[in-house]
Amino acid sequence: MIIERTANSRIGELDPKNITFGNMFSDHMLICEYENGSWGDVKIMPYGPLSFSPAIMVAHYGQGAFEGMKAYKDKDDNVFLFRPYKNFERMNKSAVRLAMPEVTEEMFIGGLQTIIDIDRDWVPFGDGMSLYIRPVIFASEEALKARVANKYMFSIMATPAKAYYSEPVAVKVSDHFSRAANGGVGYAKAAGNYGGSFYPTMMAQEEGYDQIIWTDDATHTLFEECGTMNVFVRINDTVYTPKTSERILDGVTRDSFIQLAKHKGIEVIIGDLKVEDVYKAHKDGSLKEAWGVGTAVVTTQFKAIGYGDERLALPQLDAEDSYALQLKKALVDIQTNQAEDPFGWRVLVERKN
Ligand code: COI
Repeated sequence: MIIERTANSRIGELDPKNITFGNMFSDHMLICEYENGSWGDVKIMPYGPLSFSPAIMVAHYGQGAFEGMKAYKDKDDNVFLFRPYKNFERMNKSAVRLAMPEVTEEMFIGGLQTIIDIDRDWVPFGDGMSLYIRPVIFASEEALKARVANKYMFSIMATPAKAYYSEPVAVKVSDHFSRAANGGVGYAKAAGNYGGSFYPTMMAQEEGYDQIIWTDDATHTLFEECGTMNVFVRINDTVYTPKTSERILDGVTRDSFIQLAKHKGIEVIIGDLKVEDVYKAHKDGSLKEAWGVGTAVVTTQFKAIGYGDERLALPQLDAEDSYALQLKKALVDIQTNQAEDPFGWRVLVERKN
C-alpha cells in the first residue's frame, strides 16, 4: 500500500455540532485502478478532485456501485467498524452483477483498516455520531461504445455524520413507480438504483411525503423498500419485513435488526408483506409502528403512510414501547462499544499508522 499523508490537515474545520451529511470529507482517500486485467497499487492520498474526461464510461452507462458503512468511536477513543465483511461481500456481488472486477480483501478490508486508522481523528464521538464511509467502484475508461469497460477505479472516502433524519418521516406507497424488477439490479448497490429513485421521490414530496414505499413492479401490492431503506412493520407484537430477493437490497442494518429482534425474543416474520394487510392492520388498530432502516439513517420511524388518497397517521411510540427505538438503541450500543457484542459484529481499527 502506498501512503501519502496530507501536509495540510483540514480537521480544524470540522465542527461536530454543524455536520451536514456528505458535504465534508476526511483528510484522505483511497484509490486503486484496474487496467489490463488486474488491480494496481492501493494508494492512500490526500482527499481531492481527480481529473476525468466527460467520456468516462460510468457517466454514460452507469457501470458503478457503492457501499455505505460507518466507523464509531467509544469513550476511550477506540475506533470500530461494523460488520465490514458484509459490505465487502455485497460490493463484490454488485461488481459481479454489473460485470465489473471484484475487489480483493486486501483492498477493501485492509484499505479500510488503514485509511480509517489514518483519519481516526475524523470519527466524531457522541450520540448519533459516526464517520460514514463510502467505498465505490466505477468504470473509468474513456470510451463511448456500450460495452463492459476495460478500466475501473475503486475508491474509499469518508464523511463525518450525525443522525440522517431528525424526525419521523411520512411515506407514500407507490402504486406506479418501482425501484427494481426481477432479473434487474435491485439487490446490487448499483448507482442507477438511486438515480432512478429521485424523480418518483420528488413526486411524493410534492404530495407532502418525505419518501416512497417501493412496491413490487408486477402488482404494486407488496411492500419492498422505503426510499434508501429496508422496511419493517409491527402488527400487534410481531415484526414483519419483506424477504430479500432480486429486487430487494440485503441491508446490513436490516439483517442486524432481525438478529437483534430474535435475540430479544421478538417474533419476526420474513416474507411477502402485503400493502393490503398493513392497511387493514391500520384500520383495526393492530398496526403499532413502522420504520425504515439503513446504514445512513440507522432507523427512522414512520409518522404516516400514504395509500391511495388516504394518509394513515401512525402512533408515535416512545422509547419504552417502540420496538424500532429499542432495537436502534441495542444496535447503536453495540456499534459504539457501550454494550456486549454477542454477535461478534464490532471490528477494532488497529492503531498502526
Ligand atoms: C446507506 O444507508 O448507506 C445508503 O446507501 C443510503 C445512501 C444513499 C445515503
